[in-house]
Amino acid sequence: MILLDGKKISSDIKTEIAEIVALFRKKGLRPPHLVTVSVGENAASQSYIRSKIKACEKVGFDSTNIKLDQNISESELLDVIEKLNVDPLVDGFIVQLPLPESIDEFKIISSIDPSKDVDGFHPVNLGKLLIGIDTFISATPMGILEMLKRYNIPTEGKDIAVLGRSNIVGKPIAVCLMQKTYPGDASVSVLHSRTKNLREKLRAADIVIAAIGKPHFVTSDMVGENAVVIDVGINSIPDAKNPGLTKLVGDVDFDNVAPKCSYITPVPGGVGLMTVAALLLNTLKAYKQRNGID
Ligand code: GUN
Repeated sequence: MILLDGKKISSDIKTEIAEIVALFRKKGLRPPHLVTVSVGENAASQSYIRSKIKACEKVGFDSTNIKLDQNISESELLDVIEKLNVDPLVDGFIVQLPLPESIDEFKIISSIDPSKDVDGFHPVNLGKLLIGIDTFISATPMGILEMLKRYNIPTEGKDIAVLGRSNIVGKPIAVCLMQKTYPGDASVSVLHSRTKNLREKLRAADIVIAAIGKPHFVTSDMVGENAVVIDVGINSIPDAKNPGLTKLVGDVDFDNVAPKCSYITPVPGGVGLMTVAALLLNTLKAYKQRNGID
């Protein structure tokens, strides 16, 4: 069994990006610039944003963090987005979700210029993904694709079971893996809470992608011998060894499933770490497109 090491791959990606940015600077070009927009004081969102800004610093990107008041109106937020859309010195930006309930998330995401939508959430970019046109792929699916690529895991003709059908993970990763490209060319099934014979369908899969948001949902009887298991879950549960504390676990019962696998991602240390690297890759791509660089 081989561990798919998100820490190592994400670190490799950051090193590669830093080298590219250093070359830009040598040529007298400005570095890529990512802007993060957040509304209110959601602790998890602020922590995600800090890690995105830190990653930008690490690779030499410029970054700007726009922190807006919890009570900002939808139209004020739309004004902020319009300014970023037309600012030639902004290559990409993200509006951190979730937003306050008074603001329509779909309206906000749809107002972002698709060429600056480095989250890959805009309907135009999701539409391109579906058709198979090059676009920004959102962070988690992109992180999974990079992991498959960097470990040379074959996908052509494989049976892949995606467990979960969310807009940000299940649906887009299923779409990516059915395209006629590597990683892809697979027969993809999207399984979920209403699926019949779930255990048998998961067992028959060559690759399982668990993104159902339920701690330790995938047990060893649900996984075939030598399967590749990608665990997208990040669930906080009470830590039996440290009463009163919690720990992070995935959607897969790692201890019992891992011995059966050819490859598996740990949690933490797997897909989660890939998401910031994916955002950096998308920002670099937006910068290159904006500046006509191959
Ligand atoms: N909230 C949780 N994950 C994400 C993400 O990848 N992008 C944005 N914009 N908000 C999030």
